[in-house]
Amino acid sequence: MTTLAPDSDAAALARDPAAMAHRLAAMSPEAAARPAAIRVVHAPGRVNLIGEHTDYNEGFVLPVAIDLGIAIALVPTADRRVEITLAATGESDAFDLDSIGPRRGSWIDYVAGTAWALAERGVPTGGFRGVLASDLPQGSGLSSSAALELASSLALTGGEVPPLDRMTLALTAQRAENGYVGVNCGLMDQFASAFGEPGKALLLDCRSLDHRAIPMADPDLALVACHSGSPRKLETSAYNERRSQCEAAVAVIAGRVPGVTALRDVTPAMLEEARPRLDPVVAARAEHIVHENGRVLEAVAAFEAGDLATVGRLFYASHASMRDLFGISSPELDALVEIAAGVPGVIGARLTGGGFGGCTINLVRREVVPALREAVLRQYPARTSLTPRVFEVAPSPGARRVA
Ligand code: GLA
Repeated sequence: MTTLAPDSDAAALARDPAAMAHRLAAMSPEAAARPAAIRVVHAPGRVNLIGEHTDYNEGFVLPVAIDLGIAIALVPTADRRVEITLAATGESDAFDLDSIGPRRGSWIDYVAGTAWALAERGVPTGGFRGVLASDLPQGSGLSSSAALELASSLALTGGEVPPLDRMTLALTAQRAENGYVGVNCGLMDQFASAFGEPGKALLLDCRSLDHRAIPMADPDLALVACHSGSPRKLETSAYNERRSQCEAAVAVIAGRVPGVTALRDVTPAMLEEARPRLDPVVAARAEHIVHENGRVLEAVAAFEAGDLATVGRLFYASHASMRDLFGISSPELDALVEIAAGVPGVIGARLTGGGFGGCTINLVRREVVPALREAVLRQYPARTSLTPRVFEVAPSPGARRVA
């Protein structure tokens, strides 16, 4: 959703609830008339530490909600009209809750889709006038979609968390994206934006929906995102193609092994047995998923044991698997990982999220953040002719009312 790109003013606004409320009052007569009724909600983006494309294969993921996201200041209205203005561009869009209509192909779809999915769950929604600001960097792949769905769900229910448990809230946001926007994503991003906790990563079993917060609050460690600056071209079609390839592998393996309903059920031995019957590309996709699930659980055990060397090894193995087997890396993302691997004190680096552009995530010793930044800013433009962005991200709370 590149149109939600922050300019620096909008990015600062997204972090300042009082300024958001003022901005709304300055542009909406409804808000100016009832300043005490203004609410501000915020939902975070995410990085994923490990477990890529495993969510829709009913496997494991380990995302972190981050301190960048989407804020909406709103004043609830007695009517059924939802009208939002983007702080960055001044562009407005609107829809009627009683006649949501089909998707339009713009950012408002994520709000309208959330209204549609809440209604499907029987959750009462209400109209509002709002202003939206984001500090998620443009094209970063840090889940502006999920952040917008989660922020919208609070805005649509009067600026409070809807009367749903957090998992149902995340599933409703995913439903908006699958059923209305038309993107066949898994649950990871909406889960992270709903469940974020300061200082914690979030382990999710995407089959049972069991989840657990994993402490990340070591003051000596930092999480650094490196944004490749390359457009995420063909992302949706390639994403859906990966999903179909995973399903194709399951269909072949399930033909001989009863009880296999997802790649989650497939062991490395089962995969090797089936390999002669699989298309080689399909086999490679399945190999990534089967081993990536194991890497998530190993990484959690290593984090909990303080074994950072193992965490780092798993990050690099995950990246290599995405590059060589799952085919979702790019020369730019590979360059970022290679540059990071050459900086002493970087524990691990890998692409994060759907792939085909966006960001890498780097787990580093805090004192080497400047050295990593310097290495990327110096080496990456020379290798790619692109301008990278390097920024630290911190594990942060999930969607909530902030004013
Ligand atoms: C995107 C999707 C997620 C997940 C990741 C890859 O972010 O929205 O559901 O599949 O890609 O791990």
